[in-house]
Amino acid sequence: MGDVTRTILILGGSWFLGRTIAESAVAQGFEVSTFRRGVSGVDVDGVTTLRGDRTNPDDLVRLASSGTWDAVIDTSSYIPRETLQLARALEPVTARYVLVSTVSVYEGWPLDPLTESSTVLDCPPDAGPDFGYDGDPGPSKYGFGKAGCENAVTAVFGSERTTILRPGVILGPNEYVGRLEWWLRRMQRGGRILAPGSPSRFVQPIDVRDVASFALSLDRGGIWNVASSGRETMGDMLGACRVITGSGGALEWITDEEWLASQRITQWTELPLWRTYKGAWAVDSTAARAAGLTCRPVAETVADTWAWLSDGGAAIDHERAGELGISPERERAVLESWDAYQLDHCGA
Ligand SMILES: NC(=O)c1ccc[n+]([C@@H]2O[C@H](COP(=O)([O-])OP(=O)(O)OC[C@H]3O[C@@H](n4cnc5c(N)ncnc54)[C@H](OP(=O)(O)O)[C@@H]3O)[C@@H](O)[C@H]2O)c1
Repeated sequence: MGDVTRTILILGGSWFLGRTIAESAVAQGFEVSTFRRGVSGVDVDGVTTLRGDRTNPDDLVRLASSGTWDAVIDTSSYIPRETLQLARALEPVTARYVLVSTVSVYEGWPLDPLTESSTVLDCPPDAGPDFGYDGDPGPSKYGFGKAGCENAVTAVFGSERTTILRPGVILGPNEYVGRLEWWLRRMQRGGRILAPGSPSRFVQPIDVRDVASFALSLDRGGIWNVASSGRETMGDMLGACRVITGSGGALEWITDEEWLASQRITQWTELPLWRTYKGAWAVDSTAARAAGLTCRPVAETVADTWAWLSDGGAAIDHERAGELGISPERERAVLESWDAYQLDHCGA
């Protein structure tokens, strides 16, 4: 193990994961700088703010001349050739580069169970934003881009000085895609609540604070999947949402997923966090847990997200937030069709 990291530079740091890493690092006594444009999100108290655009070469020169760091933690890399420029600029002044990547880099995501040695999408380190393609399901330009970013950082820093984190779904306060928020607000509305699939399906969302602690605790190169152990279920998660919101609603589990899919409900977005593919919640995070990753119970993530929302918390306005949720009319229609289907087929 190397020396304990004390000075860090966060590339980003004002939305969700980057922001949580900044908060956690300040609380732990790290000297923290953040580099961003100053356009969106909030600066965490106690950080030194360095302003600039990661796509602008002059800003990168300025950034590299403003300090030296034990580690850079990059939560905002999406385009390989930009990441390559950044890594080159920061290599002389940074001991180690921690890249927040994603499970979407795997060729088999979300169809197959994944370990760190599963095949990764092929993307060169200098690829532009249009590299790759979007499958449905399967590979995405996002996944190709992140794979290229991994290659870019490794090409410059070498594998000993490159730490790659591949999280699955991250939830918690300040989450801007709004997956948990949608379910919490749906529970609050009450009535008959369409709950997709089996309540005993294992799920692996990870709390943003647990990802942040893990990112800050690592002091060596390597690649880690970052997901919870998968011992909790969809029933645990939605049940916790119902309880914490004081919902008088009833969860109506539609366990026949083939039937549900035949209603043309879009997995993952119309009913957030519902995915039937066998790899969606089969990310092996044994290595991360052996390296110190700890995961709080999903009920705590749910409760703290609700507390944040109830306290007026609002995530940044992100383009992806609008993707989510089924309308009340459509939900009612699907539940009515399900009632009729059950009467016909099960004699219920
Ligand atoms: N959410 C999930 O479930 C999930 C799952 C797997 C992996 N991930 C990964 O986790 C990370 C999530 O991070 P986050 O979005 O929460 O990070 P964040 O660091 O909190 O927010 C993104 C930051 O990027 C900055 N930024 C945007 N464009 C910039 C530019 N051109 N130059 C400089 N800074 C720029 C923004 O500030 P300004 O606008 O002020 O510049 C903002 O501070 C991502 O890498 C994502 O791929 C997420």
